[in-house]
Amino acid sequence: MGRLSRSVLGFLLLCCLIVAGEAEYLKYKDPKMPVGARIKDLMKRMTLEEKIGQMVQIERTVATPDVMKQYFIGSVLSGGGSVPGPKASAEAWVNLVNGIQKASLSTRLGIPMIYGIDAVHGHNNVYNATIFPHNLVKKIGEATALEVRATGIPYAFAPCLQGSKMGSLL
Ligand SMILES: *[C@@H]1O[C@H](CO)[C@@H](O)[C@H](O)[C@H]1NC(C)=O
Repeated sequence: MGRLSRSVLGFLLLCCLIVAGEAEYLKYKDPKMPVGARIKDLMKRMTLEEKIGQMVQIERTVATPDVMKQYFIGSVLSGGGSVPGPKASAEAWVNLVNGIQKASLSTRLGIPMIYGIDAVHGHNNVYNATIFPHNLVKKIGEATALEVRATGIPYAFAPCLQGSKMGSLL
């Protein structure tokens, strides 16, 4: 093989490597696309196993990185008292959540999981977190409602309770 054809071959090989290294365009990961189009694209790519996994929420005690990857789990929950260890630090919590998330992001479609936690008295599963007297929240709401109504006003903008799968705000 001549020197010229060898360098041509080398150049072609380099081109192939560059093309192979470029990530495939995935519409569902493109934030510039409309949400509906992204959902449609993602749903088309998902297997039945992936769809089932995404609809499942498991408890932290069984949520290992391997389980997340094997079953494409959509969500993990720390129920009351479900902690990574006794008196676990905030760092231990972050490492727990990041470890699970890393596994989810490494799956074929890279769908992130949603981690949820019971946080009814403040972030009460976490050692040293601020604990609030949550029983008072209802009384505060009642007193505010009564006093607002007593001044003839039917509509108030005040702190409220809101819960959803995406998280709870107190
Ligand atoms: C809890 O708070 C105490 C007092 O500030 C501190 O010494 C301790 O390191 C904290 N522990 C954790 C796990 O955050």
